[in-house]
Amino acid sequence: MKAILIIALLALASPFAHAGGDPGAGAQKSKPCAACHGADFNTPISADIPLLAGQHEDYLARVLSDYKSGVRKNPIMSGQAGALSSQDIVDLAAYFAGLPGKLKVIPLHRLVQ
Ligand code: HEC
Repeated sequence: MKAILIIALLALASPFAHAGGDPGAGAQKSKPCAACHGADFNTPISADIPLLAGQHEDYLARVLSDYKSGVRKNPIMSGQAGALSSQDIVDLAAYFAGLPGKLKVIPLHRLVQ
C-alpha cells in the first residue's frame, strides 16, 4: 500500500519537477541579452528597454513565447526570442525572476486620484 502511494506521489510530482527552469543554465544563456538589458538586468541601456530582474517568472516565460510565436511583435525581440528553445525560455525566466530588481507595483489609488 505504501509503495503504491509513493509511486502515485512520484507520478504526480514529476511533471512539476521538469516544468521549472534552471536559473544556473539561464544565467549562461542570458549573456547576449545583457548587451541591451544591462549586466544586472536592472539597468537597461535605454529607457524603452524593460527591466527583467525580479519580474514574475510566468510573465517572462509567457512573453518570450509570445515573441517567438509572433503573438507579441517587436523587431528586436522577435529576432532574439526566435532562436530560443522552450527549455531556454524557462531557464531564462527562472534566472531573471530570481534576481534582485527595482520593479514594484504602484497601487491603483496612487495613480488614479
Ligand atoms: C538589441 C537589444 C536587445 C537584446 C540583445 C535583447 N533584448 Fe529583450 N528587449 C529589447 C527591447 C527594445 C524590448 C522592448 C520590446 C517591446 O516593446 O516589445 C525588449 C523586451 C524584452 C522582454 C519583455 C519584457 C516585458 O516587460 O514585457 C523580455 C522578457 C526580454 N526582452 C528578454 C530578452 C532576452 C531573454 C534576451 C536574450 C536572449 C533579450 N531580451 C535580448 C531589447 C533587447
